[in-house]
Amino acid sequence: MKQRVLSGIRATGKLHLGNYLGAVKGMIELQNNPNYECFYMVADAHTITTPFDPSSLRQNQREIIIEYLAIGLNPEKSTLFIQSRVPEHFELAFYLSSVVSIARMQHLPTYKEKVKQYPESNTMALLNYPVLMAADILVYKANLVPVGIDQEPHLEVAREIVRKLNQIYGTDLPEPRRFTTLGHYVPSLKGEGKMSKSVEGSYINLTDSLEEIRRKIRSIPTAMVAGGPIIGGIKTLFLLAKLFLSETNYQKFKEDYHRGRLQFVTIKDTLAEAIYQELRPIQERVKQLKKNQSYVDKVIENGCQKARVVAQATLSEIKKKMGFL
Ligand code: ADP
Ligand code: TRP
Repeated sequence: MKQRVLSGIRATGKLHLGNYLGAVKGMIELQNNPNYECFYMVADAHTITTPFDPSSLRQNQREIIIEYLAIGLNPEKSTLFIQSRVPEHFELAFYLSSVVSIARMQHLPTYKEKVKQYPESNTMALLNYPVLMAADILVYKANLVPVGIDQEPHLEVAREIVRKLNQIYGTDLPEPRRFTTLGHYVPSLKGEGKMSKSVEGSYINLTDSLEEIRRKIRSIPTAMVAGGPIIGGIKTLFLLAKLFLSETNYQKFKEDYHRGRLQFVTIKDTLAEAIYQELRPIQERVKQLKKNQSYVDKVIENGCQKARVVAQATLSEIKKKMGFL
């Protein structure tokens, strides 16, 4: 039997290089491996765990689906859908919450960070974020979850929930594991922390023009003189170089750096060009897809239908084991 894969990205706007390298590249790799059956969603309900704008939510849902398609997720191979249109996720999340303690949720680093960021929005939805994420995964009995390393604490919660459910109710849910990529942690362009859409100046969007990419890459803080330890902005620069340049070019720049003769603007502009070359075909496809909205509608509709069939089956199974049915 095929192993199942589930992943999702919140509908908070456009995708950036961190999402692409840390999550979507892994999603594509698994989609193209015949041993896996893949479910990829827009986690729009997770979007409302932090302040959001209702007037752009619908457009943001579509934006992510369009970018998924443009990057190469193929609706013939993967089920692409929108989380809120498969309400079984929410029903299961409520049942799962009965085996999770409040203290466990309050101690998660992701929760603490968001509360610090939005002290006015310390909501039940935010506290419940990992439980809903566990439901997203368990309702498809997914074995593998392609996400960045920052999501590991959430996967640990999902595994704990699985162990409890299997033990208490005799279900046979698999413990989900993270599927990792080379870009599982893409650092911020500011040289500190991770690339994130909530930090202005930290990211490159997949739809950025060559000029924007060049400007952003040039803004990475680097030492005046090459040759010191590879830390901060220089570390970011070399990590991106490793991911986007040929091995020969990467090694040459690194050697130049250690010999103290690297011109930062040269590696930066070479890198900007390489990133743009990888993104250009994606941008072309985004343009095409935006002209074909009825195709996008059809993909979403079919995907939601397919996802629901699987989600309903698992939910009934769990409800029976729990004594509801
Ligand atoms: P953001 O932190 O920008 O809000 P999300 O939390 O929506 O991004 O993350 C969506 C997906 O992209 C998740 O799988 C996450 O692990 C991955 N991801 C986000 N930022 C990075 C990054 N800087 N490096 C690697 N993966 C990332
Ligand atoms: N928490 C993920 C993020 O921040 C989004 C997400 C929600 C998710 N549910 C999921 C990822 C289930 C993988 C599996 O991007």
